[in-house]
Amino acid sequence: MVKILTVVGARPQFIKASVVSAALRGRAREILVHTGQHYDKNMSDIFFEELRIPKPAYNLGVGSGTHGRQTGEMLAKIEEVLLDEKPDQMLVYGDTNSTLAGALAAAKLHIPVAHVEAGLRSYNRRMPEEQNRVLTDHLSDWLFCPTQTAVENLSKEGLREGVSKPGDVMYDAVLHFSKLAAEDPARQDFLPALGLEPKGYRLATLHRAETTDGGVPAITRIFAAFEQLPEPVAIPIHPRTRRLAEEALRRGGFRNIRLMDPVGYLEMLLLTANAKQVLTDSGGLQKEAWFLETPCVTLRSETEWVETLEGGWNVLARLETEDILEKALHTQPDPAARRRSPFGDGDASGKIADTLLSGRKP
Ligand code: UD1
Ligand code: UDP
Repeated sequence: MVKILTVVGARPQFIKASVVSAALRGRAREILVHTGQHYDKNMSDIFFEELRIPKPAYNLGVGSGTHGRQTGEMLAKIEEVLLDEKPDQMLVYGDTNSTLAGALAAAKLHIPVAHVEAGLRSYNRRMPEEQNRVLTDHLSDWLFCPTQTAVENLSKEGLREGVSKPGDVMYDAVLHFSKLAAEDPARQDFLPALGLEPKGYRLATLHRAETTDGGVPAITRIFAAFEQLPEPVAIPIHPRTRRLAEEALRRGGFRNIRLMDPVGYLEMLLLTANAKQVLTDSGGLQKEAWFLETPCVTLRSETEWVETLEGGWNVLARLETEDILEKALHTQPDPAARRRSPFGDGDASGKIADTLLSGRKP
């Protein structure tokens, strides 16, 4: 059996790995390595439990730190595991520091690297995620693209060998888990318990460096827009932003904002499907809003997921009160403008598993 070593570390990677890992089960020997980049129960364990991801064989316990320290510590520890385990392939997801550390450690040992979510570009090299994804793509042997745009982005950088377009594994995850969430009797009370009614609230998340680097004043400008929306805004807050958000709430006296702890993935799908609108700086949530046909305002000046912009299903807003308010109140998505399947057919994980097991580059 092919021996695949998978490195994950941050919340969105647990979600992506859950569906690919299920597709590999029984067909490959997968060794799961958790770097420990995310470690709070509701940023890590909850996903392993809810999504039935096997317990990682290794948890490297790296935790938080500056980029260099965090990535460097991961690199050294992953290398040790690779020397012990001697896998046939390395599998990494997305664009976090855990992704780069996994790809770099393997490439230096001449272990072929597979990158899921290859070819995404914001063309903003100041973003840590852009640095991580460019470097990871150039170290990879299999580049699994979620969209045609991603394939073209790679081609512009001369990357054509090993490139394929299985589609987006997050689409697989949404299809599979939103059905489970909607049918689970234990979750039917979830929205009412929060005092939220279907389509009677907006959902927001904030965690990106570009947002939090502006400190309390930047969060206050965003909250000042949320305060003027006609529906309450529910915010499952990333731990990175919690202190800033609490301080902004205290100073601003905002009453339309409901801060809450981060929730599990099934709860998040319920929150997204039932929201009137999503406002976010998250990469993954923009797409989930698109999949679930909930309009989205992306609180960034660019997006990697340009397909979501068609017909106004997703609009970009500068981190200024007036621009956010204008976009949130006055964007009407066009139902006719939804292109069929720009993110694949919902079977990206199966295609990725087939390619990896064949051992051949596409
Ligand atoms: C990371 C990724 C980002 C991704 C996000 C998903 C990088 C460079 N960034 O950002 O691309 O969108 O994950 O959520 O890899 N913290 C906790 N508990 C935790 C985890 C984090 O309190 O379990 C706090 C710590 O104060 C930490 C801060 O959040 O310093 C930032 O965590 P870190 O993993 O460095 O970056 P994220 O913002 O989570
Ligand atoms: N998510 C979640 N609970 C939360 C907030 C987000 O399960 O409280 C999920 C969300 O549905 C999406 C993923 O986490 O699947 C996105 O992660 P995040 O926004 O942290 O990172 P990004 O996608 O920007 O890298």
